[in-house]
Amino acid sequence: MNIPDQSALRSFAGREALRVEAAMRADLAEALAGCDPLLVEVIDYGLFGGGKRIRPLLAILAARLCGASDPALYTLAGAFEYLHVATLIHDDVIDQARVRRGREALCRKYGAAPAILAGDWLHARSLYLVGRCAGSEGLSVFCRATTGMVDGEFLQLRHVADCALTEEDYFAIILRKTALLIASTCEIGAIFAGAAAEQRRALADYGNRLGTAFQVIDDLLDYQGDAGNTGKQVGIDFREGKLTLPLLRALAVADDSERAAIAALFAGDRRAESSLDRVRRFIDAHRGFGAARQTAVQLADEAVAALAPFAGREDKESLAMLHALAGYVLARNK
Ligand code: IPE
Ligand code: IPE
Ligand code: MG
Ligand code: MG
Repeated sequence: MNIPDQSALRSFAGREALRVEAAMRADLAEALAGCDPLLVEVIDYGLFGGGKRIRPLLAILAARLCGASDPALYTLAGAFEYLHVATLIHDDVIDQARVRRGREALCRKYGAAPAILAGDWLHARSLYLVGRCAGSEGLSVFCRATTGMVDGEFLQLRHVADCALTEEDYFAIILRKTALLIASTCEIGAIFAGAAAEQRRALADYGNRLGTAFQVIDDLLDYQGDAGNTGKQVGIDFREGKLTLPLLRALAVADDSERAAIAALFAGDRRAESSLDRVRRFIDAHRGFGAARQTAVQLADEAVAALAPFAGREDKESLAMLHALAGYVLARNK
């Protein structure tokens, strides 16, 4: 894929993020009025001060592409960020993460109970807003994504430190835990705009493939990224016993004794820095990073191809931004 120029996307995304943040603040002022001050503080900490705001941006672009211009779109877009942040907060409890979005993870700063409760609050509020903005049809797509995410997390748990994990299992996990929500932002944006079934399907398909590529890159960054950029610790996936695509690709070309050595590292003390280094060197030696990246490129190409039904539309800007986003997902380092 030729990665399109990112500067127009950067300024567009920055502008739209400010609007989404204003909509979230307005909604919170209403929804949290009279609530416990600690709840207010924790929600504020979770939502503001970092985050790429990709899910809200996708909802906005999908809805615009299908002809919507209603300002309620920003409230709907914010609902996706609420749900996303709820999953990050809970994910950090599960993964015992110390850092998120470049600062102390919420569960470390406030403790597990406020973190779990804040995630529940954000989840509940996101459901309310999606129902209000996109009706029962939108809510049904949204709930399919959120229930699917939980199922994906269970599937991931089932395969902790399982060196017999197949690529099929891996893609089943990341489809559920990441791509379904991203696909739902696109599809619900289309529903909000009153789009035809074919457009809805095309946007859901785009989101599905983009979301899968997004998680493959996240999994690469977990080995190769710089915590100063990603805003989260690197090497967590190995420590948590998650086998991800770069490693699966390396295992697929390794011999039996090499595979046994990796299985022993997964069965041993995964907190040891030396074990992580060995796994990283193994992946590198077997070209697992390059192979996983190639798959992400292919998925991003497929995402762009899914937008073909929109080729003749008047709103060229939204279409160009969705194309540029596919490039961004591949090029990102945070
Ligand atoms: C992190 O998502 C969780 C994944 C699904 C990989 P993002 O990378 O979009 O996180 P923020 O919102 O920018 O912090
Ligand atoms: C992402 O899983 C899925 C979520 C629903 C948060 P990860 O565990 O890879 O996410 P990060 O890397 O902590 O953001
Ligand atoms: Mg995590
Ligand atoms: Mg990750």
